[in-house]
Parts: sequence; structure tokens; C-alpha cells
Amino acid sequence: MSSVNALAYVGITASDLDAWKTYATDVLGLQVRPDSTDDLLKLRMDDRVYRFFIEKGEPGVSTLGFEVNSRGALEELAAKVEASGAAVKEDSSLAAARDVVALFITSDPGGNTVELSYGQRIDHDAFVSPKGHRFVTGDMGFGHAFLIVPDQQEAYEFYVNTLGFRESDTIALMPGLVGQFLHCNPRHHTIAFASVPGMNINGVQHLMVEVDSLDSVGRAYDIVDAGAAPASTSIGMHTNDHMISFYMQTPSGFDIEFGTAGRLIDDSVWSVGHYDAASYWGHKRLREMPVP
Ligand SMILES: [Fe+2]
Repeated sequence: MSSVNALAYVGITASDLDAWKTYATDVLGLQVRPDSTDDLLKLRMDDRVYRFFIEKGEPGVSTLGFEVNSRGALEELAAKVEASGAAVKEDSSLAAARDVVALFITSDPGGNTVELSYGQRIDHDAFVSPKGHRFVTGDMGFGHAFLIVPDQQEAYEFYVNTLGFRESDTIALMPGLVGQFLHCNPRHHTIAFASVPGMNINGVQHLMVEVDSLDSVGRAYDIVDAGAAPASTSIGMHTNDHMISFYMQTPSGFDIEFGTAGRLIDDSVWSVGHYDAASYWGHKRLREMPVP
């Protein structure tokens, strides 16, 4: 059965690309591609040609770029999306712009643009983090996205029944609000979502990037604490994925979770869990939760 392999890249919109360039370099430790322009910022975190692209626009996340492993898998997945009732079409000029071999474009039930592709270009130039970080990516993709969705059941049907994600666990985040966490590779979750009762909200609440050492998380937190970006939480450890992380505001308003030591899932022995809190310790809220 055809399914998504990883979240390969994310498209972001912002009013100020210079602010993103400074934030990406000085806080996240990402590398700005030399072919970035005033209208398109491309950021590397590993051997892929980019993992984030940032364009001018209403601030937020514009695109979730999922990858599959081959042309055949891509066509099979596009057929499943079409059978689910969603509009989907191949776009070869967009594939060229995204530096992938082939790409289909669709959207999830909440209206987020979803690009399905394979063969994102691998850069022969070495990735060099300006902060000396090593990001945990590879087969597990760039990280994860937490969405606020208007209809949780519809989101579940799209991501699980159509794109082929598997359930990791759920967390009772607050009364009436249950977060669902889904994986498509050993990373504990690549997509997670929740609906806010009584509110018709759609969008990305946070993106997560993972580094390979607690020192990198601590150093990034010190930079944020010194005023480089608004901290959203203190450092803490999550219950379900064991990530030791903190959250901060990006120049586009949504948060980035910056963490390490995320738990891996082995599907042959995994049982879906349920938790009564998001964190074992820490993650003290330092500013109001951003809502897309
Ligand atoms: Fe997260």
C-alpha cells in the first residue's frame, strides 16, 4: 500500500524575509542557500537542497511537502487522494521550482496546501550549520508539524486513511481537546493535530526541528533567552515522544519546537498510547499559545 515516507520540506510565508534570515541563521543554526533571493529564502539543515523555503505573504505556513519513494508510489498515492474526493493534479513546473523529480499538489480537509513528491535534490556541497548543530533528519524527514484543524475526524481520515499515516498516540491536552499524533517512519510523529472546541481554526501551530545533542538545545535556548526571539516555553520533556525541547516564536507568528532525543517507533511492537498531559516536566508557558 502506498503511503507517505516523510515530511520532506515546508513552505513558509512572511512579511520580512530579512528577519527570517537572521532568525534561521542566528537562532536555529540553519544554512542560507547562496541562490536565495529577496523574494525566496531557502534554508538547509542537511544534505537536501533545502528543507524550508520562505516567500513573501500573509505570515504562516503555506505548504506541507511530503515525499514518497518512487514515481510508482507517487502515482498510487495521487490516485488514493483522488478517490477520497480531494482535487489533485500533477504540476511539472512546480516540481522544477521545488527541485524534485515529480510533484502532485492537493490540499488537506482544513485547506492546507499539500505537495506530494519524490526525488528532492541532494546537494553535493556539504551542509554547514552556522551554530555547529547536526539535525536529525535522513529517512525521518525534516521534523514534525502540529496543526490546528477545524474537523479532527476529517483530518484523521485524510492523513491516516488516504496518506497512510499510522497512529502513535493521543494526549488529553486540556478539557475537550485531544491531540492525535501520527507517524509515517520511525520518528514518533511527523503530523499531529487537534481541534479547538467551538473554534473554526485551521493552520500550523508549530513545526519541530530535532538536533542530536542536549548541548545544542541548551545553547539555542540561551540565545533565545538573551532576546533573539520570544521564548514560548521553558525547556521540558514531552510524555509521548520523550523530546526534550523548548518552543519559540518565529518571525511568521507560529512556533518552532527545538528539541533532541525524540523516541523512535518500531511498528512491529508499537501499541497506540494515551496520555493525560503533554509533558513529564518543564515546558512552562512563557507567552500565550499561538493560534494560527
Ligand atoms: Fe511538537
